[in-house]
Amino acid sequence: MGIKVNEKERFFSITTRNTEYQFKADKFGVLKHLWYGEKTDRDMEYLLDYPDVGFSGQIYETGDDRTDSIDTMPLEYPCGGIGDFRIPAIKVTHADGSTALDLRYKGYCVKNGKYNIPGLPAVYAEEAKAQTLEITLCDTSSDTEVILRYGVLEELDIITRSAEIRNNSNSPIFLKEAASLSLDIPFGDWEWIHFQGRHTKERVPERAPLIHGIQESSSSRGMSSHHQNPSFILCSPDCTEQTGKCYGAFFVYSGSFQIQIELDQLNQTRAVMGLNSKLFGWKLNSGESFHTPEAVMTYSAGGFSKLSHNFHKVIRENICRGKYQLAERPVLLNNWEATYFGFDAEKIIKIAEDAAALGVDMLVLDDGWFGKRDSDTSGLGDWFVNEKKLPGGLGSLVEKVKALGMKFGLWFEPEMVSEDSELYRAHPDWAIKIPNRKPTRGRYQLVLDMSRKDVRDYLYDSIAAILKSADISYIKWDANRSICDWYSGELSAENQCELPHRYMLGLYELLERLTAYFPDVMIEGCSGGGGRFDAGMLYYCPQIWCSDDTDAFERAKIQYGTSFIYPISAVGSHVSVVPNHQTGCITPFETRAVTTMAGSFGYELDLGALSDEEKNAVPEQIKRFKKYAPLIHNGKYYRLSDPTTGNIALWEYASEDMSEVLIHGMVFRTEPNMKRIAIKAVLSPDSQYKIEGDLGIYTGAALMNGGILLPKTWGDYCPIEIHLIKQGV
Ligand code: GLA
Repeated sequence: MGIKVNEKERFFSITTRNTEYQFKADKFGVLKHLWYGEKTDRDMEYLLDYPDVGFSGQIYETGDDRTDSIDTMPLEYPCGGIGDFRIPAIKVTHADGSTALDLRYKGYCVKNGKYNIPGLPAVYAEEAKAQTLEITLCDTSSDTEVILRYGVLEELDIITRSAEIRNNSNSPIFLKEAASLSLDIPFGDWEWIHFQGRHTKERVPERAPLIHGIQESSSSRGMSSHHQNPSFILCSPDCTEQTGKCYGAFFVYSGSFQIQIELDQLNQTRAVMGLNSKLFGWKLNSGESFHTPEAVMTYSAGGFSKLSHNFHKVIRENICRGKYQLAERPVLLNNWEATYFGFDAEKIIKIAEDAAALGVDMLVLDDGWFGKRDSDTSGLGDWFVNEKKLPGGLGSLVEKVKALGMKFGLWFEPEMVSEDSELYRAHPDWAIKIPNRKPTRGRYQLVLDMSRKDVRDYLYDSIAAILKSADISYIKWDANRSICDWYSGELSAENQCELPHRYMLGLYELLERLTAYFPDVMIEGCSGGGGRFDAGMLYYCPQIWCSDDTDAFERAKIQYGTSFIYPISAVGSHVSVVPNHQTGCITPFETRAVTTMAGSFGYELDLGALSDEEKNAVPEQIKRFKKYAPLIHNGKYYRLSDPTTGNIALWEYASEDMSEVLIHGMVFRTEPNMKRIAIKAVLSPDSQYKIEGDLGIYTGAALMNGGILLPKTWGDYCPIEIHLIKQGV
């Protein structure tokens, strides 16, 4: 198995199928990072260089030796307040107000299986398929202990990280920072990729060389956010989809986070990922422990494709859970863009009838079915049916939908409350707001204090009552604003800084309760589209509505960025009408369909209002999606072009053995007298392939190096579908 320990040398090596990670405790017990990269078959300590760098401090025991500085050495979990002036992984304030921590090696332990983290989502694995390495560190002059946990999924080239901080002293300490991952890379030039954006334009990859000092991507919005995703890649400047070296990490957390990358005075790189220190503090009483959320790392010497494949597999197989984790998802029709708030039972049933006739599996009733909710200014929190719109309640509507042969799904926004609601009038103190200050509104709404048990109980009871009142197969779990004005009536002044993290613990507890009690109900995550698209939510929801932007051209770019970290099965995607409601742009119906197939596949329009030609296409699209769904969701995904530059968006799904390949996408603009485009696919070079609709037989090598000639295109956003089958299988 992957973890090897040399007890005498206090040397630790973690090997996975293609990678190796090493560190050791030096003679003073300082944990020095030695290596993360390809397998090397030897101890990499020889790479430690000991320059005498002015103004770089030494721990006391080094005596006359000015070369062994914690300010210049690669470290495994750097401490704040002592002589490493780079980004710390941990910072505490002791009872006497001092802020130094000097963690030294105390012991280790290797366990079979993957550790869990109390109250937090984390990678899970069968006992035989994972191992855990625990390293215990202790402060030199306080009884603060830190246990670093490494989870090893050898076959998947995945190493997970989490830390437990224990206060074994008699007085409280205050945690100021507690990172989940710190990674020092002492050699090499690295470029940083992060995924930035905004509402309806999420996860745009941005790649830049590192500059000296600290660069950061983070969220302080109480949600992982549309604006920065909790993930990063560090890659060699020559890194491409298929070649070059890259490190990647994502955070299994849905709240505020912080990723800092520092290029230091010696051109060494340090990456630190964890809770956002600007919104974090934790009072750790005597005898208490704090567990950081999990960070998941991989390394690829084969470019971004390999990195993405490792992440896709671990998220799909070891983070997502429940009945729908690997199962085919129902093709759904969501009424939001079809009706917005303007619906009644009759309208919904008509939409359902049209959808059923064209082969849709599930009708999802979006916002507006509850309380006094005719616009987004009121009603949130009142999770009981609006009988004016739906006379007879949900029961009779659901039965009618089921009689059409479809399942039924329902929208909730549990964490939010409108001031104009019965809930708010009864419990104004349940909303997060600071006494004697006017609260900030977002989409006219406030946020419930999820750290409170009474709030969670209310939400559990009201959601459970609805789920029990009718045969509901699906929940869309929305959250439509960022969180600020942090204050909880339940916490003392010195504990208020804990609220952002307590909020997330509360949310996860509620999701855990609901998924445990209603295992057959699938939850789709959402936050104004993809504002909480992260691995923490994917532990509870196997798919997340990827973006409120359903324009095929824009979606292709959003899904491109999303695919670096997250699997295709996690992407909620719907065909909508044109002109598109977010952009006013027009794309062909088939282009919208192939773009939507890169996800869960569904529709968000009134199918009855389509042209006859489009109506005829719908059953065929659904049939085609279902035929390809196993390949799309279980296969390997390759990005064949960068749609944020250039004229094409093309991507590929390949079966594990490369015997079946599907290429989808679009050519944005057709030029007059245009030469056909040759697209280089990823195939098995020595195999022979047949392209559906083409009489020739081609070697993989030809189509990989010479490319596949795309069909002649016409018009804007011309759709592409190419299906290849390996011959002689
Ligand atoms: C958010 C979601 C949309 C829709 C609306 C309803 O914006 O992303 O899909 O559910 O809320 O208010």
